[in-house]
Amino acid sequence: MFRLKTRIFLGEGSLSRLRKIATGYDRVLILASKSVEREGFLEEAERYISEAGAEVESIVGVSAEPSYEYVEEILPRAREFEPELIVAVGGGSVIDVAKAVKVFYDSPGTVFEEIAFISRFQRPKPIPKLKTPLIAIPSTSGAGSEVSGASVLKMGGVKYNLVSPEIAPDFAILDPRLPLTMPPKIARNSGLDVLVHAIEAYVSRAASPFSDAMAVGAAKTVFEWLPESVKGNKEAREKMHYAATMAGIAFLNGRLGLCHAMSHKAAWIAPHGLLNAILNPHVMEFNMKEETARLRYRELAKGLGMKDEEELLARVRELNEKLGVPKLRELVDEETFMTKLDEMAKKAYRDGLLVFNPVEPTPEEIREVYLKAFYEG
Ligand SMILES: [Fe+2]
Repeated sequence: MFRLKTRIFLGEGSLSRLRKIATGYDRVLILASKSVEREGFLEEAERYISEAGAEVESIVGVSAEPSYEYVEEILPRAREFEPELIVAVGGGSVIDVAKAVKVFYDSPGTVFEEIAFISRFQRPKPIPKLKTPLIAIPSTSGAGSEVSGASVLKMGGVKYNLVSPEIAPDFAILDPRLPLTMPPKIARNSGLDVLVHAIEAYVSRAASPFSDAMAVGAAKTVFEWLPESVKGNKEAREKMHYAATMAGIAFLNGRLGLCHAMSHKAAWIAPHGLLNAILNPHVMEFNMKEETARLRYRELAKGLGMKDEEELLARVRELNEKLGVPKLRELVDEETFMTKLDEMAKKAYRDGLLVFNPVEPTPEEIREVYLKAFYEG
């Protein structure tokens, strides 16, 4: 099966699509990041919605690592306003929060702990049918949340996953003006996350020729354009913006694997994309020990115009180096890392994403991959 619920609009100025989409609704709620407000895009979005004849209310300032507690904090405002349409303008976190707001606004009796995925050995309750349409307008190029049916939220410091096609956005607007002002480090970290999404979706057990095509297209763009995008090149930023959504479509269908399972459990160390970039070559090396997985990496390498999987691995490492990705041991001291190591390995082993990883690792093997990442890269 291949699914894509989201209708995608793209191109410079496509933010104005809001006017058309909002027509016919009376009340529209916007969730936005502070940077979107600072750059004037919130005001622009509000104007399009007013021009459509709808009343608009904005909640600004969703944090980078959002929590369920924050969702609970803003829910009363949403309930009081009674929106018929929800718009998220910002990075992946803003879109993830909007998805959760939609769940508890549309289905007030729902309990977060009951519907959230925490372990692959426990099945949560399904998310009920939801009615309020959601528009996602990403301002960073990485998370893929604008097309995915997943929302990652922390509760009490632990990351939980909500997963359902019900929360996949109905519309995504990819206006390349928005990511143009991303700071270079965010462009780098989120861009490297795009590469990990593409690679993990490609070698996943759930991959199909359809998700493969999206993964190859996205990975190719990262290798060709990410270094220029980090420098702020306009054309490169636009290419990366679309590649992020393509990788999102790839992993919405092909899903992710060990690298994301491990990075989610190590989220206390560094930003998501950066951590993935550091772990990625080690996870690739681990997976390549098995012949069938190795062949998938080879196929991906060939799709990218490379000789074989070894060249792909070398190119991944080279890109990290070129973009100044730090070593894990520069981000966390040895003692702290070692204290948390067993717990991280155990938790990563329970992560639902391992079902899709081409090789099933033991907790001990996951521990080894963490250690290699710490001492070798
Ligand atoms: Fe990611």
